[in-house]
Amino acid sequence: MGNSIVVTGGAGFIGSYLVERFINDGHDVLCLDNFDNYYDPAIKRDNVTRFKNKENFTLLKGDILDRDMVHKALNGADCVFHLAAQAGVRASVKDPIKVHEINTMGTLNILQAALDCGVKRLVYASSSSIYGKVKYLPFDESHPRVPVSPYGLSKLMAEEYCRIFSEIYGLETVSLRYFTVYGPRMRPDLAISIFANRALQDLPLEIFGPGEKTRDFTYIDDVVCANALAMKCNRGVFNIGSGHRISVKELAELIIQLTGSRSKIVFREDARGDAQHTWANTDRAKVKLGWSSKVGIEEGLKRYIKWLTTRNSPGAKG
Ligand SMILES: NC(=O)c1ccc[n+]([C@@H]2O[C@H](COP(=O)([O-])OP(=O)(O)OC[C@H]3O[C@@H](n4cnc5c(N)ncnc54)[C@H](O)[C@@H]3O)[C@@H](O)[C@H]2O)c1
Repeated sequence: MGNSIVVTGGAGFIGSYLVERFINDGHDVLCLDNFDNYYDPAIKRDNVTRFKNKENFTLLKGDILDRDMVHKALNGADCVFHLAAQAGVRASVKDPIKVHEINTMGTLNILQAALDCGVKRLVYASSSSIYGKVKYLPFDESHPRVPVSPYGLSKLMAEEYCRIFSEIYGLETVSLRYFTVYGPRMRPDLAISIFANRALQDLPLEIFGPGEKTRDFTYIDDVVCANALAMKCNRGVFNIGSGHRISVKELAELIIQLTGSRSKIVFREDARGDAQHTWANTDRAKVKLGWSSKVGIEEGLKRYIKWLTTRNSPGAKG
């Protein structure tokens, strides 16, 4: 028999993939999401419409800041995957208070409700942004955590609440530190989405700063797999990244090459709050979760670009 699972932020990019995986695995899945307008809510509606006829799927439209709503959602749940958040480093630089409320206070609401409702385990969507300033690379889980944006700090505080709830109240919590996630249906505010969409129209690709920042990009299927494995793990903090990094300039060049684009690269003033580098050491996830990344950046980009071009072709939908 399946478990009863709640996915907060289940209408979003990563959350909707988790919902799909858990529905297909035979669990009862409840999605709690407020369809906020950080990006077009129609994309989120599309993400969940595909499940509407599944009898093991329930959609609850609500805010994680609404405590009654959160209790209602978590009542009877065995396991919670907590992804609802105000994502985006730039958005956090613009409005740090909103980010603190949703990401930190919202997580605290979820943890308290999980405790009150007798939930066994909570898997939290943490982020590589918690590392911030680089002491050494690649980051292992013991690397100092010195976030450089309000977003990174809010994710770190929430992760620390997960640890505290595990240590003093006995709620089993697992934090997965995702390194920039991409793939079909990805958030439209992320570099890969912006670059690929512009490259397909031969428009210039804008890089903030000289393009020397490096990123570890993680394909969505690998992230889904890590979450499915985390459901069987009782505690811990794990890096979930590809284990490779490329510079933003190399990324732009690769996208131009893979799309056969005539786009040029242009350099703009650096953006505040962006980390200099991210790069995951994933040894712990390999040993303790039995997880490893399967999809490298070139293969992942090919799959994403194929999805984009199919979606954009005449007569295509979704
Ligand atoms: N995408 C990445 O590269 C990445 C990297 C590291 C960590 N993460 C984390 O993974 C999670 C999912 O990210 P994503 O890229 O899928 O983002 P997303 O914006 O697509 O999904 C977040 C979802 O949360 C919902 N939400 C926002 N505020 C809410 C609230 N107050 N109440 C209820 N729902 C709310 C949104 O409507 C959205 O559907 C987030 O916690 C994010 O911080 C993402």
